[in-house]
Amino acid sequence: MAPRRWSVVPAIMRPRTSTPTGVEREFGREQIIVSKTDLQGRITYANDVFCDVSGYREGELVGAPHNVIRHPDMPMAVFQLLWDTVQAGEELFAYVVNLASDGGHYWVLAHVTPSFGPGGRIVGYHSNRRWVPPQVRRQMAALYADVRRAEAGDAPKKARIAAGTAALHARLDGRTYDEFVWSFAGADADAARADAGRAEAGR
Ligand SMILES: Cc1cc2nc3c(=O)[nH]c(=O)nc-3n(C[C@H](O)[C@H](O)[C@H](O)COP(=O)(O)O)c2cc1C
Repeated sequence: MAPRRWSVVPAIMRPRTSTPTGVEREFGREQIIVSKTDLQGRITYANDVFCDVSGYREGELVGAPHNVIRHPDMPMAVFQLLWDTVQAGEELFAYVVNLASDGGHYWVLAHVTPSFGPGGRIVGYHSNRRWVPPQVRRQMAALYADVRRAEAGDAPKKARIAAGTAALHARLDGRTYDEFVWSFAGADADAARADAGRAEAGR
């Protein structure tokens, strides 16, 4: 996993990490939350939707490590998978609950990709995030709570991530995490298409 690099961000610019309030924040189905990072996961770009939904100003986000919006309910194993995947040059779809500046939270379906420079070298990372239906949020929250339980304890961090990864895989019924995510996201896409069809028919 990428090291935390707070030291490169002047203290005055660092956003405060908030305490979760349990209040859910909403954003539109049509909106896309976008950020880009450098190789260490420091934010280099955040779009207006990112700022609105997270409650941070662009100046607070750019230069900050992406874990500024890390929610404590997120399993370490999911971020381990995220970093292992993108550092290997692959893309990942992941459900993530993020923490806003006021302590509220919001669920996203993130599509995280490496950005390639000359010679095929990875020069940074990019994430586009979309809205998640409430029933999927509930299912993912239950799954992640199980994984967090497996990650609890006093063992070294590496061992806790390994326990979390094992708990995550045990719940995927032989599917990869990506396939598992798509079993939900594909159903969302079908539901959205059905909604659009009904709206069209009702006109
Ligand atoms: C492109 C990109 C987007 C990321 N987006 C998020 C995000 O939305 N929320 C988040 O908590 N971590 C995100 N991360 C992962 C963080 O860099 C970090 O690994 C994670 O917050 C766990 O932090 P920790 O290791 O300090 O606990 C992203 C990483 C990359 C490369």
